[in-house]
Amino acid sequence: MAPASGGATRRVFEEAAVSTAPLQGRRVAVLGYGNQGRAHALNLRDSGIAVVVGARAEGIGAAAARADGFAPVPLAEAAAAADVVMLLVPDEAQAGVWTGGVAGHLGPGAALGFAHGFAVAFGLIAPPPGHGCFLAAPKGQGGMLREAYVRGGGLPGLLAVADASPPGTWELAAAYAKAAGFLRGGGWATTFREECVTDQFGEQAVLCGGLVELIRAAFETLVDRGYAPQNAYFECVHEVKLIADLLHRHGVDGLQRLISPTAAYGGATRGPRVIGAASRRAMADLLDEIESGAFAREFLEACARRGAGRDGRAAAEAESALARTGRELRARLEALGLE
Ligand SMILES: NC(=O)c1ccc[n+]([C@@H]2O[C@H](COP(=O)([O-])OP(=O)(O)OC[C@H]3O[C@@H](n4cnc5c(N)ncnc54)[C@H](OP(=O)(O)O)[C@@H]3O)[C@@H](O)[C@H]2O)c1
Repeated sequence: MAPASGGATRRVFEEAAVSTAPLQGRRVAVLGYGNQGRAHALNLRDSGIAVVVGARAEGIGAAAARADGFAPVPLAEAAAAADVVMLLVPDEAQAGVWTGGVAGHLGPGAALGFAHGFAVAFGLIAPPPGHGCFLAAPKGQGGMLREAYVRGGGLPGLLAVADASPPGTWELAAAYAKAAGFLRGGGWATTFREECVTDQFGEQAVLCGGLVELIRAAFETLVDRGYAPQNAYFECVHEVKLIADLLHRHGVDGLQRLISPTAAYGGATRGPRVIGAASRRAMADLLDEIESGAFAREFLEACARRGAGRDGRAAAEAESALARTGRELRARLEALGLE
């Protein structure tokens, strides 16, 4: 299936050229005070934007918002009081929150915003007719976004606007991203669908799936042959950060120049054997499942079965040799004041 954008040349919103005027004198409701919600609310407030936080009265988010100097109110009440409503509850909860109260309280002319394309891309929430509907997705986790903003920096972001949104919605989305600290590296125009598909694919194929399983398989291969877990951990996990930092700063070509000739030769000749045709076929399958919506359906069904909260995977992982070895080594290095 072709990408939703058709591969068109991308418009980039440069921070210096974007005005926050579309948000001046208007109020933003940040619904949900978790990973993204806290960073958006604090950054917007520090950018001089009026913010009302919507959170469940007894929740952890409401307590955190109060500690940060906000006066959280129920989600529907926050939405009713705002010109821009940013839906920052987890993706699996968004449709319920929307239909369960927020939709009916969207004021005339108020815009609806998302930080991830999931709900709109897979039809869980239809952009409300007559209202602006935009995506403003920071390329990073909430803690990083807040830290970068406080340091005087920021992150890049992706921006999209739903079809049939009123004129001015792109400007509003860009203003939002600037005030929330993620236009610093530029804001790339995309679509809800493209942002969602590529985000999920990156998580599954590399960041949270492929990379973790690559590390696990390599660690276990060494340990099963009798090599010390500590050595295996240093080689297969600890040094990932060093390589990731080099990649981040110098790219794949720069990396080749900065590593030893042995590492460069071994990597170039052996890497494609590890990630060969079977892995590429598996990646294509993952992309098919994401594009068809099969992954979204499976994920939502799994969430519905287990109820609120995370499943037991993290607790089970904590018992693995990989996790135990890492805990011991990190504790030792931290005690010595090292990273
Ligand atoms: N996490 C990331 O790195 C990241 C990066 C980019 C984009 N995003 C996107 O940002 C959005 C928010 O994700 P997140 O990771 O920030 O979520 P999160 O940290 O899991 O958000 C939790 C917040 O949502 C509230 N919440 C959960 N279920 C709710 C419900 N049924 N009704 C009302 N409030 C509810 C929680 O309230 P309580 O405190 O009361 O439990 C809490 O305030 C998602 O669209 C996500 O895809 C996330």
